[in-house]
Amino acid sequence: MNSPKIAILISGTGSNARRMINFEPLRTCCSFIVLSSKNNESIQSFCNDRKLEYLELSGDTDELNIQIERICQEKHVTHIILAGFLKKISPNIIKNYRERILNIHPSLLPKYGGKGMYGRHVHQAVFNAGETKTGITIHEVSEIYDQGKIIAQYEVTISKSDDVDQIEQKVRQLEELYFPEVVKNFVIG
Ligand code: GRF
Repeated sequence: MNSPKIAILISGTGSNARRMINFEPLRTCCSFIVLSSKNNESIQSFCNDRKLEYLELSGDTDELNIQIERICQEKHVTHIILAGFLKKISPNIIKNYRERILNIHPSLLPKYGGKGMYGRHVHQAVFNAGETKTGITIHEVSEIYDQGKIIAQYEVTISKSDDVDQIEQKVRQLEELYFPEVVKNFVIG
């Protein structure tokens, strides 16, 4: 059986994409392609330096999904990892990759999930609510936003002195610690 080919989809800085690609156990078992819905020269040169394919997507959500579907087919992608990808994945892609698409969300779903809950908005809402803990949720992608089967959750406490930036920092540390390992276990069992 061919080794897994992972398509990493990003819209942000791509720190989670970098960590997955730099994670030795993943790098030795799998190949990668990075697709970005935004211009990202830093990730582009990161991929070029490693001779990894990097493609930028363009257009509205439907056009992006058509591009993703075509690329995944042409490149024989086996798994899709959403790492800060802000567009909704089409039902057709979800059907073709049933139980082989993961998303990472920066809160303890189902709290602070759903439409509009992404990036800093999540941490601001957690801060405003006076939560004493937050975390990350890694879940399969289903047709309903942020409601796929939860694969892993990791928590961190919030102290009274934490501001939104410090909450975000704590969440990003969890991502750094756990996301690549969860992806490896998901992809190669
Ligand atoms: C991360 O906080 C992730 O939890 C969320 O979007 C952010 C992506 O950050 N889904 P990056 O682009 O990987 O730096």
